[in-house]
Amino acid sequence: MATNLSETASSWGMQVVLGGGPIDFSDASLRLLGLLVVYALFTVLQRAWRRFRLLGGIAIQLNLLVLVLLTLAFLAPVLVRLHRYVHDGLASAVLFMGVVISLRILDVLFFDNLAQWRKRPPAPQVVRDIGRWILSLLALVWIVRAYFPGVNLNVLAVSSLVIGYIVGNATQDTLGNLIAGLALNTERPFQIGDWVTVNGHTGAVVDTTWRATRLRTKADDYVVIPNASIAREPILNFSRPTRHHGCYLSIGVSYDTPPNKARAVVLGVLQAIPEICREPEPSVFLTGYGDFSINFTIKFFIEDYVRLDSIQSGVMDRLWYAFRREGISIPFPVQEARQYDAAAEERERRAADQESVRQLLAGVDLFQSLSPAERERMATGARLEMYARGEALCRQNEEGSTFYVIRSGQVAVSVTNAGGASAVVAQLGAGAFFGEMSLLTGEKRSATVTAETDAEVLAVSKPVFSAIIQADSQLAEKLAAVLEKRAVARQATVATVSPGHPVPTYSALLARIRHFFALG
Ligand code: CMP
Repeated sequence: MATNLSETASSWGMQVVLGGGPIDFSDASLRLLGLLVVYALFTVLQRAWRRFRLLGGIAIQLNLLVLVLLTLAFLAPVLVRLHRYVHDGLASAVLFMGVVISLRILDVLFFDNLAQWRKRPPAPQVVRDIGRWILSLLALVWIVRAYFPGVNLNVLAVSSLVIGYIVGNATQDTLGNLIAGLALNTERPFQIGDWVTVNGHTGAVVDTTWRATRLRTKADDYVVIPNASIAREPILNFSRPTRHHGCYLSIGVSYDTPPNKARAVVLGVLQAIPEICREPEPSVFLTGYGDFSINFTIKFFIEDYVRLDSIQSGVMDRLWYAFRREGISIPFPVQEARQYDAAAEERERRAADQESVRQLLAGVDLFQSLSPAERERMATGARLEMYARGEALCRQNEEGSTFYVIRSGQVAVSVTNAGGASAVVAQLGAGAFFGEMSLLTGEKRSATVTAETDAEVLAVSKPVFSAIIQADSQLAEKLAAVLEKRAVARQATVATVSPGHPVPTYSALLARIRHFFALG
């Protein structure tokens, strides 16, 4: 292998300029071989180190550094003879790469560990990168000055400006991304770990580099979105201003479900799920009467957006069971060829209503003395009505001639005096009746009756009631007794706010009823 470099070079038509006398090429080849062997060993070792996170980030720089270091160590005498600048150039390259690697290691050790210690997201990558670039540039200037004092840095600066302009024009997109990345880091519409939707992609922010922002989606994939396009689009941040996230679910229930019942069941389900926040409270809105269902929107808050899917699914699961237990059906569109006899259906419904009215009347004391025929007449003439919690069934001082018997639920009877102060005088439940005063005396309503829960009442109109009172001689007396008792109770309550009205006596009330209905 004792070839002569000059000979080989001249056989290729090249001339080698040697700075420091002849080179022993057998020695040079040996050194080169040594270099290659050590470098190969290092590369193998480096593969084994891959698992160290810190080394992973500087793998290429480290590799280059070792290569140049080895070149210097093994080939220094040869290089010096080639030209002093070759040796110095490599030495300065080693120094520069050492600075770059050290800065990188310091960056990771300092910022990442600091973030871990403070339990906060690390400083934005783009800011760290730019900081490192500036320090590296300063180090480069210093190294060039130290190793090559003859080099005119001003000329270099001017030419790098020109080159920068050309490169800048050629890489407008990249610069746009860099500037957008800086803007994102200054404005901070999101932080690392926040869940966001950008450009139609939803994920947790992993990092923002000088070129792009990386999201980790729910499917555990990365989406890399260029910073420039993030800066142009609206950003929806689920983790700010608080980690609370409001969820909306829609559900429909069958038309025979009273809305308040459905609402109560849904709220009960939400309250039993621990992942759902107590504050702000969950709410249920009736959003419309659909083609085949009463539609509700359910709103509730969860602590963490990441758990959205599983919590929503849990709510839906539990709703199904709760609805099933409460006899509430979730309708779905079915196509079924049916001959629909609306009249027959109506007849059936009326018959069922009348049966339940009969049962109701049989349980009311007031109507115990009615003959079966009279009770039947009442069952046929009266109608069942439903009221929602909070609704008024009749209002004080309004005209009214309907008599009510409560089938289910509870109502409150309240009286307001001239000064506007009001007081609840009674609460009535299933089997009780009200509205008799106006019906029997022709006066305006003496009180306001409001449903305290969802309530179903039997409404009896004046003509129906009139026929019954004519037929049952005891009814007027029983009613006069109730009327008197209620008037006394009302007076006692109202007297605290407006003293004064005389309470009519039993006989006066009976006489009034008899006169009003022209009873013998
Ligand atoms: P009316 O006056 O027609 O309308 C309001 C109704 O409230 C009234 O008939 C009674 O039926 C009822 N009411 C009034 N005062 C009382 C009371 N003290 N206790 C129970 N019910 C009452």
